[in-house]
Amino acid sequence: MTAQPSDSRAMPVTDLHPKPADLRNEVISGLRASPKTLPCKYFYDTEGSQLFDRICELEEYYPTRTEIGILESRSKDIARAIGEKAVIIELGSGSSIKTHVLLDALINPAAYVPIDISRDHLIDAAARIASRYADLPVWPVCADFNGQLELPEHGLDDHPHLIFFPGSTIGNFDQKGREVLLRKMAKICRGATRTESPGRLLIGIDLIKDRGRLERAYNDSSGVTAEFNLNLLQRINRELDANFNLDHFVHDAQFNVDDSRIEMHIESRTQQLVEIDGEEIQLGAGERICTELSHKFSIEGFAHLAEHSGWTLAESWTDPEDLFAVLLFETL
Ligand code: TRP
Repeated sequence: MTAQPSDSRAMPVTDLHPKPADLRNEVISGLRASPKTLPCKYFYDTEGSQLFDRICELEEYYPTRTEIGILESRSKDIARAIGEKAVIIELGSGSSIKTHVLLDALINPAAYVPIDISRDHLIDAAARIASRYADLPVWPVCADFNGQLELPEHGLDDHPHLIFFPGSTIGNFDQKGREVLLRKMAKICRGATRTESPGRLLIGIDLIKDRGRLERAYNDSSGVTAEFNLNLLQRINRELDANFNLDHFVHDAQFNVDDSRIEMHIESRTQQLVEIDGEEIQLGAGERICTELSHKFSIEGFAHLAEHSGWTLAESWTDPEDLFAVLLFETL
């Protein structure tokens, strides 16, 4: 069933007025830095989001399918561990397939609070959930979860809070960023002052595994991942006055064992000069632009770092091959 626009108008959106993205300045300063970087948040324009959906269907890209499989097969245990009448808070609500699996299993959830920086995505996701779960109050919040976060006042602090953060998105932050975000999540959950129950976090993490399997997931044979990564340059051409020639760049993703992360790069094949909105950027032959880091964890390692940021591990669920884990934490 498709959500009607009237659904979204009826829903009170709490707007924390996230700062509008500044593509031009972030792109230019990233490309002037050494080593060069581009912010991964710009992957997801319309084309990029469609390409990412295709990545999630690839045989080689196991994380999405494996996480959904865990959520489905362990849904009863997950629902029991979370308990009744929880307020479900989701950071970066995305396509919400995983949210459906969770909400289908939960016992009388009290409310759903999707939080997203993009107002359009937020309203779409909220309207989809509202039309599917007629009795569930939905209180969308338009905010950048890297900034200040507050929940709307709708009597939510009478109910235990559960933050849902799937997709191993936590792996795309560096160590400092992970700590800051985990602390912020713990603080939000402790806001449920009128309940005895601890705050909870249900989080997906991609597990450390052999290099071959990891690198195949980020270098698929049909080239969709390469297209996704290079779409970032295409987007800059589309939205800024820029002249990246895509034939002069290649996608590169390698596992860095020491830092336990996949490092996504775009590599310049030749020495070249690119123009972006009147600014010139020089690239050397073989020079790389880092577009994303995707950290991989062990359950023990992740539990240890979460412990430093206000959380204690309560339960963990994995798939039969130990590719991915869904972890349930409680506030300390
Ligand atoms: N967040 C996803 C991940 O870390 C993003 C991703 C998948 C990605 N494939 C990619 C990012 C290829 C850049 C290039 O798994």
